[in-house]
Amino acid sequence: MAVFNDTFNATERLLAEHRSVRRFAEREVDLATLERILECGMRASNTGNMQMYSVVVTRDKERLKSLGALHYGQCATAPVMLTVCADVERYHRWCQLRGAGVCYDNFLWYLSGVIDASLCAQNICVAAESEGLGFCYLGTVLYNAKAIAELLKLPKGVSPVITLALGYPEGETTLSERLPLDAVVHYEEYRADSDADIERQHRMREEFPFNRRMVEENGVENLAKLFTEKRYPVDANRAISRALLDEITRSGFMNNE
Ligand SMILES: Cc1cc2nc3c(=O)[nH]c(=O)nc-3n(C[C@H](O)[C@H](O)[C@H](O)COP(=O)(O)O)c2cc1C
Repeated sequence: MAVFNDTFNATERLLAEHRSVRRFAEREVDLATLERILECGMRASNTGNMQMYSVVVTRDKERLKSLGALHYGQCATAPVMLTVCADVERYHRWCQLRGAGVCYDNFLWYLSGVIDASLCAQNICVAAESEGLGFCYLGTVLYNAKAIAELLKLPKGVSPVITLALGYPEGETTLSERLPLDAVVHYEEYRADSDADIERQHRMREEFPFNRRMVEENGVENLAKLFTEKRYPVDANRAISRALLDEITRSGFMNNE
């Protein structure tokens, strides 16, 4: 399944062919390559050009094991893990050195840090793919944010928001499906879709062979229930949210009064 056509240029083709990589070859990522793609991360747009993020690189094998355990063993063969954090600490320290007040310790700046970290991470991802590397985002960073913060010795003002497992791909990967453009894009005003539109937009997703197999293997009635009952059930979502709020509070982003 190819989503691109002849009108796509080389960059657009690179983006259109993206696929997550979860199995990695036993090949190190040399520091020069890593730093090139990190530099590309730094070039992402960011809030006020304040770069409210930091990237913690994990390459040491023992540390990879400890960090990997907090991601439930996902992408265990990755030679590099990048933990991209919302970070106001560096900015606060500079402000203090210059006699400026502390004012980025509230939720707005957590969100700004999350946005900055995400854009930085995605630039890293695109650069990585252009180098023949593969990656997978690991949302489990939010499930175990407090323990990951402890492991990486993150100070107040710094909280993990994105993890990327990175390395050279091993084996085949498949292009995953996406909703049609009209499901996601609204011109000028938000369009109220009918139930029939929603069904049509999701049909391809429901018929995608991988998704059909997952529904069958998990013994659920349909794809929507695979998400709500198995992958992201409400009780787990709420427990993770509570733990995450504790971590955001620990890292000092909740001085909202
Ligand atoms: C924020 C975020 C968290 C993710 N977390 C995980 C994860 O924990 N495990 C995993 O295998 N894939 C994870 N992914 C990858 C998505 O499952 C993947 O991007 C999606 O299924 C589309 O597939 P593709 O990237 O191959 O196009 C995550 C992606 C994002 C953006």
